[in-house]
Amino acid sequence: MQNDIAEILVTEEQIQARVAELGRQISNDYRDKVAGEAGQSLLLVGLLRGAIVFLSDLMRAIDIPVQLDFIGISSYGLGTESGAVRLVMDLETDIAGRHVVIVEDIVDTGKTLSYLLGNLKARNPASLQICALLDKPDRRTVPIEIKYVGFEIPDKFVVGYGLDFAEGYRNLPFVGVLKEHLYKVVLMREAIL
Ligand code: IMP
Repeated sequence: MQNDIAEILVTEEQIQARVAELGRQISNDYRDKVAGEAGQSLLLVGLLRGAIVFLSDLMRAIDIPVQLDFIGISSYGLGTESGAVRLVMDLETDIAGRHVVIVEDIVDTGKTLSYLLGNLKARNPASLQICALLDKPDRRTVPIEIKYVGFEIPDKFVVGYGLDFAEGYRNLPFVGVLKEHLYKVVLMREAIL
């Protein structure tokens, strides 16, 4: 698996240090908002499946009460390209009046989060913010305000720490650039079929 990686972009140590900072920042920003109100703990909404590794570390770096829920979004399109998006698994939690932070692995074109923000805003949360481990600003086609960003990265296809290519590589402990020939072959095959 490691042989398929051209370059490590963010090391395990860098991730852990940044996750600890993000956890502190989120705790401080929401401490007063959720204090003492029953059922008002901060709701972390993880995007399946890429965000789960980040989310599991991030939630343990937060020292105020949190609850978790998950949402599934599927994007049509080829292996490394984002296309049109749709909801494939909804939240169980009613988010009306709740403070919500969406936890995402990576923001690329911004289409996924733009769709999700519209969908969740219509449910009237008390507040709605985004926390993304990675941001590829050069690829943005839809403007998105991301309150909490782990790392800005260049326009390269990355895997590891929850991010996949064709469902593989999610368990690498770092974020690495996938060797180009590996995904180019799959993309060409998908384009032909
Ligand atoms: P967006 O809708 O274009 O912002 O794409 C967001 C989704 O595309 C992410 O949740 C990822 O699932 C996927 N994605 C975008 N870039 C990468 C990457 O470099 N590696 C793995 N997945 C990616």
